[in-house]
Amino acid sequence: MEHRNADRLASRRRRLLVTGAGGQLGRALVDEFAADEVIALRHEDWDVALPPPRLPAVELVLHAAAWTDVDGAESDPQRAAAVNVGGVAHAASLGAPIVAFSSDYVFDGRKGEPYVESDGPNPVSAYGRSKLHGEAAAGEDAWIVRSSWLFGATGHNFVRTMLRLGAERDEVAVVDDQRGCPTYVGHLAAAVQGLLAADAPRGVWHLAAEGDCTWAELAEAIFAAAGLQCAVRRISSAELGRPAHRPAYSVLRSERDRAPRLPHWRDGLAECLARLGVAAA
Ligand SMILES: NC(=O)c1ccc[n+]([C@@H]2O[C@H](COP(=O)([O-])OP(=O)(O)OC[C@H]3O[C@@H](n4cnc5c(N)ncnc54)[C@H](OP(=O)(O)O)[C@@H]3O)[C@@H](O)[C@H]2O)c1
Repeated sequence: MEHRNADRLASRRRRLLVTGAGGQLGRALVDEFAADEVIALRHEDWDVALPPPRLPAVELVLHAAAWTDVDGAESDPQRAAAVNVGGVAHAASLGAPIVAFSSDYVFDGRKGEPYVESDGPNPVSAYGRSKLHGEAAAGEDAWIVRSSWLFGATGHNFVRTMLRLGAERDEVAVVDDQRGCPTYVGHLAAAVQGLLAADAPRGVWHLAAEGDCTWAELAEAIFAAAGLQCAVRRISSAELGRPAHRPAYSVLRSERDRAPRLPHWRDGLAECLARLGVAAA
C-alpha cells in the first residue's frame, strides 16, 4: 500500500482512495490529486473482486481498477464481471462518494455521430456489458465518467505499442474502421479534478479528448511525431479478427452544462511523447 501525504499550504486536504493505482489512469489520478491525502491501492493491495480491506474512512473514491482486457473478457465474462461489476459495488460499499470510470464501449457504434450522455447504451462485447452493469453498481452517489481510448506514459496502451512496433518494423497493419477519441490519462485526471471542483452533479459524464480519428490515423500521427519511418497499412476490423466486437464509431461528447473540456488528442499525444522522452520529429 502506498500512502501519499503531499503538503498543501492552504485549505483542507481531502482523504481519498484511488483503486487500480498501478494502472495508467490510476497513476495519473495519484499525480493529479497529490495535494490531497491519497491512499493509493494497487491490484496486489486490494483485489476489488473481493470485499474491501480495513481502511481509514475516506471522503472520496476514485475507482480506476478494472478488467481492461477487452478480448479476454469474451472468453471469461464471469471474471470480467466480478471485477467490473462486483468491484464497483465493493468500492461503492465504502460509503463515500465515488467516481467510477466507464467506457465508450457501452455503445454499439451505430449512431454515426457523437454519443452524448442521454444516448441509450447497447454494448456489443462482454467487456462493454460489464462496464455498463458496473455503472449501475456504482449507485446514486456516483459520478460515472465515461472516457475512451486511454493512453499514457506507462502501462499497456496503443501509443506505447506503436512506438515499439514502429522502431522494429517497416510496416504495421492497423484498423481503420473504428473511430474514437484517444484520450491522454493526464488530461482525463485533470478533467475529473475540474468536475469535482465545479461541484458538478452526480450521474453520467462524457469526458474524452477533443477531435477524433481512427486507430490507423493515430498510428500515423505517432510515427510522424516520433520520426519513425514506418508505414501504416490500413485494414478492417474483420481482417484483424479480434475476439471482441468493437464499436465502429464511439466518439464521446458531453451535452451537460459545466462539463470540463479536454484538450485535443494531438495535444495529449504530444504530452505523452514528451513524458516518454520521445523527441518530436
Ligand atoms: N484503456 C482504455 O482504453 C479505456 C477506455 C475507456 C475507459 N476505460 C476505463 O478506465 C479505467 C482505467 O483504465 P486504464 O486504462 O487505466 O486500465 P489499466 O491501465 O489496465 O489499469 C487497470 C488497473 O486495474 C488493475 N486491476 C485489474 N484487475 C483488478 C482487480 N481484480 N482488483 C484490483 N485491481 C485490478 C490492474 O492491475 P493489473 O495490471 O495488475 O491487473 C491495473 O493496474 C477502467 O475503468 C477502464 O475500464 C479504459
